[in-house]
Amino acid sequence: MAKHKKHTKNRSTTKLRRSADKRTKGNLDKKLVKHMRFKEYIKKAIKQKSKIDGLRKNLEKVGSFERLLKSHKKPGKEEANARDDKLEEESKKIIEKPSKSAEGIINQAGAITKVIDSYDFLCNSIPISTKICSKKGEYVLCYEVSISSIGATTEMVLEKIREELVRKVNLGMVDITDPKRKTIIEEKFSDTIRELIIKYFPEVEDKTIDFLTSYLIQKSLGMGEIEILNHDKMLEEVVINSSDEPVWVYHRKHGWLKTNIWVKDEDKTRHYATMIGRKVGRQITVLTPLLDANLDEGDRVNATLNPISTKGNTITLRRFSRDPLTITHFIENNTISLGAAAMAWLGIQFELSSIIAGGTASGKTSTLNVLASFFPPNQRIISIEDTRELNLPKYLHWVPMSTRLPNPEGKGQVTMEDLLVNSLRMRPDRIVVGEVRRKEEAETLFEAIHTGHSCYATFHANNVEETIRRLTNEPINVPKIMLPAVSMIMIQFRNRRTNMRRTFQIAEILPDSEANILMQYDGKKDSLRQINKSKSLMSTLQLYTGYSTQEIGKILKEKENILKYMVKQQIKTIDGVGEIVAESYTNPENLMRFVRKNKRFS
Ligand SMILES: Nc1ncnc2c1ncn2[C@@H]1O[C@H](COP(=O)(O)OP(=O)(O)OP(=O)(O)O)[C@@H](O)[C@H]1O
Ligand SMILES: [Mg+2]
Repeated sequence: MAKHKKHTKNRSTTKLRRSADKRTKGNLDKKLVKHMRFKEYIKKAIKQKSKIDGLRKNLEKVGSFERLLKSHKKPGKEEANARDDKLEEESKKIIEKPSKSAEGIINQAGAITKVIDSYDFLCNSIPISTKICSKKGEYVLCYEVSISSIGATTEMVLEKIREELVRKVNLGMVDITDPKRKTIIEEKFSDTIRELIIKYFPEVEDKTIDFLTSYLIQKSLGMGEIEILNHDKMLEEVVINSSDEPVWVYHRKHGWLKTNIWVKDEDKTRHYATMIGRKVGRQITVLTPLLDANLDEGDRVNATLNPISTKGNTITLRRFSRDPLTITHFIENNTISLGAAAMAWLGIQFELSSIIAGGTASGKTSTLNVLASFFPPNQRIISIEDTRELNLPKYLHWVPMSTRLPNPEGKGQVTMEDLLVNSLRMRPDRIVVGEVRRKEEAETLFEAIHTGHSCYATFHANNVEETIRRLTNEPINVPKIMLPAVSMIMIQFRNRRTNMRRTFQIAEILPDSEANILMQYDGKKDSLRQINKSKSLMSTLQLYTGYSTQEIGKILKEKENILKYMVKQQIKTIDGVGEIVAESYTNPENLMRFVRKNKRFS
C-alpha cells in the first residue's frame, strides 16, 4: 500500500513536474516568440531609422540650401559658390544612376578619370559650365554640362517646381518653338512660375526669383535641356538616338561625345519632332515617319520615328554656325595655305567655274561660303539650296533661293532643277548651287556653265579622280566632253582621327577632260604643296585678262598680302571680310595703303 502510495506520489510528482516543465516551456516559447518579435521590431525600427535619417539628411540639405539661398545676399559670392559646390558634391551621392524615367541633366555614374577641356558659355543669360572628360568604363569622352549658379540640390527642388508647373499649366499644347509665341507664353506663365518659386523659396531676393524664373522657363519650353546644348558654339551636331541612351553631341574639337542630358521617354522625342514639324508646316506621323526641316535660325533638323529607327525615335540637329567661317579662319586654322587661298580668289575674281568636293561634313558648304565672299559687289548672285546654309556679305547683290518639299497631298514642290532653270531667267552673273546630287541638277548646272554663267557647286566625292568618275558615270552621267567647262576642282577633307579639316587637292581640268592636280595636301608636314605646274588655268586667265605670267604673279602676291592683313587685323566676320574684298575691287589703292601700314580699315 505504502509502496502503492509512494508510487502514486511519485507519479503525481512526475506529472506535476512534467506539467510544470510544459508550462515553463510554454512560457519560454512565448518569451522566445516575444523576443523574436521584438528582434524583428528592432530590426524594422533600425531600418526605418536609417530611412528617416536619410530623409532627414535630405531635408537638412534642402534646409541648408534654403539657408544658402538666403545667405547669397550676405556673404561674398565666392564663399556662397564654395558652399554650393560642397552641396552639389553631397547631392551627387544621392543621384547616382540615371533611372529610366530620368530626364534632364543627370550626374551619370562613373568616376571622372581625366578632365580634358572645360569652358563656360551663356544660355539666355544663365551661365553654363561644361567639362569634357574621360570616365571609368566609358570608351568615348563625356560632355558634362552643369549650371554653375545652380547646385544639384537646387536643381532637385526646381525640378519639383517644374513638375508642379506642368501639372498646373498645359505647356504641351502650345507651340513653343516660335520665338514670338515663346515671349507670349513666357509672359503668360511667368506669374505661375513666380508663385511656385516663392512657395518653395519664401525668403529669396527678387533678383534670385527672376533668375530662377527665367531658368525654369528655359527648362520647360522648347526642347528643355537640349536647348542648353544649342547655345554652345563649339557643337556642330546634337543628336537623340533613343531615350535609353544619353543625348550625343559632335564637338568641333573633340568629335562625338556622350552628354549627361537624357530625354525622359520616346514620347518626349516624338513631341519635340512634332513641335519642329508644326513649326515648318509639316507632319511627322506613323505614316510619314521621316522629317527634314530647316529652322528659321538656319539649323537643320532631321527626325525619324520608331519602328523605322529601331532603337527609338531620333532627332539630328545640325547647328548652323552662328559666326560663319571666313577665309581668315581658314588661313588661321591652317585649312588652306595663303598661296592656295590667293589662287582660289584669283579664279573666283575672273569667273572660273568651280566644284568643291569632299566627304560628309568635310566642310564643302563652308568652303563654298568662304569662296563666295570673293565675289565682286557689282555682280548678281543667285544661290540655290535645299536648306539655306550660305551666308554672304551684305555688300553683295545676292538673291538666295531654296527648294520646297511637296505638302502631304504631294503638291507645291519646287526642286533644285526648277530653281536652276528659273535662275537663268534672272540675269545672274554667278550661280551658286548648294549641292549637286542628281543627274538633272548636274545637267542643268553644266548647261548653265556652257551658256556663259559662272557657277559654283558642292559635290560629294573624296578626291579629284573620284569627282570626275562620279560626275561622268551612272547615275549622274555628265558627258565627259562637257567637263572642261569647270575650271577648278577643290577637295575638302576631314581627318576623322584628329578632326582637322584641310583643303586636300586643287586641280584644273584640261581640255581633254583629264585633271591636273596643282596642289596636294601633305599629311606628314600638314601643308598644301604645289605638285604640278598649271597647264590650262593660267593660260585661260591670261587669255581672258590679257595679263602676262609676271602680272598674274604680282596680282597673286597682292592678294596674299591682303589675306595676311586680314589675319593680322583679325577681320573674321563675313561682313568684315566682305568689306575688304569689295574695297579691293572698287578702290584697290586705298585698301593697299591700309594693308601696307597694317592699319585697321574702317
Ligand atoms: N575649315 C574648317 N575648319 C573648322 N571647322 C570647319 C571647317 N569647315 C567646316 N567646318 C565645320 O564643319 C561642319 C560641317 O561643315 P559643312 O556643313 O561645311 O560640311 P559639308 O561637307 O558641307 O557637310 P555635308 O556633307 O553635311 O553637306 C560645320 O559645323 C562647320 O562649321
Ligand atoms: Mg554641305
